[in-house]
Amino acid sequence: MSAPSMTLFHNPASPFVRKVCVLLIETGQQDRVALHACMPTPVTPDADVLQGNPTGKIPALRLADGSVLHDSRVILDYFDHQHVGNPLIPRDGCARWRRLTLASMAEGIMDAAVLVRYETAMRPPEKHWAPWLEEQRNKIRRVLAELERDAIAELASHFDIAAISVACALGYIDFRHPDMQWRSDTPKLAAWYAEVSLRPSMQQTQPPL
Ligand code: BEZ
Repeated sequence: MSAPSMTLFHNPASPFVRKVCVLLIETGQQDRVALHACMPTPVTPDADVLQGNPTGKIPALRLADGSVLHDSRVILDYFDHQHVGNPLIPRDGCARWRRLTLASMAEGIMDAAVLVRYETAMRPPEKHWAPWLEEQRNKIRRVLAELERDAIAELASHFDIAAISVACALGYIDFRHPDMQWRSDTPKLAAWYAEVSLRPSMQQTQPPL
């Protein structure tokens, strides 16, 4: 096997990174990338990540020619065009827009959950902005309620961009916000998540304890 020609700037705690890793495993491409561990925060960008990526966001993917792709949605699309199996992002039609919209809902959960994490773990308690924190949590609850009401059958139909994104968002809530106890309000989502969590791609990308 040849050495990986691409580098993925990676942190196992990031749900955005996890989406990419899950798709790589689901499509059999995990050996194509070397992982470069990094921990950028909102106040400490990582010098390696910044090269060719002024946003400093992870995941970022350095290609063999030195160019850099970001963010996670771009990298997912890139890798989904690089395997021979069924696309995990539908190429066109209603399915494309619906699956991407479900993925965007999951992205909304991740954005809010990561912001809450930064606010509560990095800022001193006296500086926490309670109404802002509450609205981030409300956003998460609204999305979960909508998925419970309207999307379970779609999520269960195949493990594609929508399902991968929702699974990684739920994994991040469990990892950083176990106090949210979302399962009692959304039992169908919880049952779906219990099943997909057993997939090798989810097991192999669990955030660190
Ligand atoms: C975290 O530790 O929760 C985290 C790390 C990297 C990106 C996003 C979240």
